[in-house]
Amino acid sequence: MRIVLGVTGGIAAYKSALLLRLMTEAGHQVDVVPTPAALNFVGRATWEALSGRPVRTDTFEAVESVNHVRLGREAELVVVAPATADSLARTAAGLAPDLLGNVLLTATCPVLMVPAMHTEMWLHPATVANVQTLRERGVSILDPDSGRLTGTDTGPGRFPEPDRIWAEALRLAETHGLAVAGPSRPRAQGAEGTEDSAQTGTGPLTGRTVVVTAGGTREALDPVRYLGNRSSGKQGVAVAEAALAAGATVTFIGGAMSVEPPAGAEVVRVESTRELHEAVLTHAPGADALVMAAAVADFRPAQYAEAKIKKAEDGSNPVIHLERTQDILADTVSARTAGEPMPGVIVGFGAETGDGTTSVLEFGAAKLARKGCEMLVVNQVGRDKVFGQDTTEVTMLFADGRDAVAAAGDKRDVGAAIVTELAGLLDQQARLDRMDQ
Ligand code: CTP
Repeated sequence: MRIVLGVTGGIAAYKSALLLRLMTEAGHQVDVVPTPAALNFVGRATWEALSGRPVRTDTFEAVESVNHVRLGREAELVVVAPATADSLARTAAGLAPDLLGNVLLTATCPVLMVPAMHTEMWLHPATVANVQTLRERGVSILDPDSGRLTGTDTGPGRFPEPDRIWAEALRLAETHGLAVAGPSRPRAQGAEGTEDSAQTGTGPLTGRTVVVTAGGTREALDPVRYLGNRSSGKQGVAVAEAALAAGATVTFIGGAMSVEPPAGAEVVRVESTRELHEAVLTHAPGADALVMAAAVADFRPAQYAEAKIKKAEDGSNPVIHLERTQDILADTVSARTAGEPMPGVIVGFGAETGDGTTSVLEFGAAKLARKGCEMLVVNQVGRDKVFGQDTTEVTMLFADGRDAVAAAGDKRDVGAAIVTELAGLLDQQARLDRMDQ
């Protein structure tokens, strides 16, 4: 791909040097276009040395090649990282005081902007409005991480790790049909393909196997009726796609869904909680991680009617008795405790509404402890929130006591954030295993 890497004037610019390395090592041609302010943080020589290409910031340099329109027109992908509050404002207003502004006005390819700033700036209504304007225009904006910022402050605004940005950029390119294969990262095959991208990939989950469940279960009452739920499967598909983009081999176990399963994963389709349970018991042993994004029925009809239930002659209403289903997640954790080769990282999801006395996060923390998994992705549900929507807001809670991480936005962005945390947990486990040896 021909990539333009825009760099604006923030301290996170130094991390973009690592992002540039990931791009060039994967075989892509990258033109770095820093703003003049960005050169205060990382100089032109560094960008030229790492990209192997001339680096310009001003519209009036290299005018003979009509550089200010050529770069934007020829680019197949533009990534602006870091994007300061000021650069988001300028881009939203269509201003072009420098070469990067001109690139952004002329580019017709996918554009990914990666904001990094102090929390107050990220939450300022002007920035919120600018981000919304840009998203409405089709610009992809990665929500910043939460955590330690440049000073002593913490909160949302932190520049995501280069691996996560690169995974997101590849995902964006792939959804636009671009050939993202560099010499070291062949493309995953199409739907239901089995090519092991982990053998050849370079992402944070390279060499890892991840099982993802998604969608809703259906519990049959009789041959034509079932009890089900509103799960669309979008969040689980987004997690699976982010794991694939990060280099993992993915087995996707899908129940009832309104979206297509992820291309490039091994796909297993199920209907009932029993089938889902069996599929997890078949595929989870030996995998590195299990992500239980499926909306699993907690109850099923105690009796299945072999023939369709008919209306009674006497006008009486049928009574349906329910029984508890098995908790697949808790069962997998128990099997691991009993010594079975279950994944070292198990991720659960929890849909909570909170009540008058207990908050969503308090319920989430209790569920994390009850389930015994390593991480719980908690989202607040109710009214039109979450089910079937493209956007969501989650908080990730961890059993090892590390700080909770919030993520919000498009479910694909949230999927990438979940995979980043998952990769962090797997890395930590690998470090601990090495220390044990
Ligand atoms: N889960 C499961 N097996 C079940 C039910 C749920 O593996 N029989 C998993 C889901 O995939 C999800 C998590 O457990 O990862 C959700 O836990 P659950 O206790 O069912 O939470 P809620 O559905 O939010 O229900 P409640 O708060 O009523 O317990």
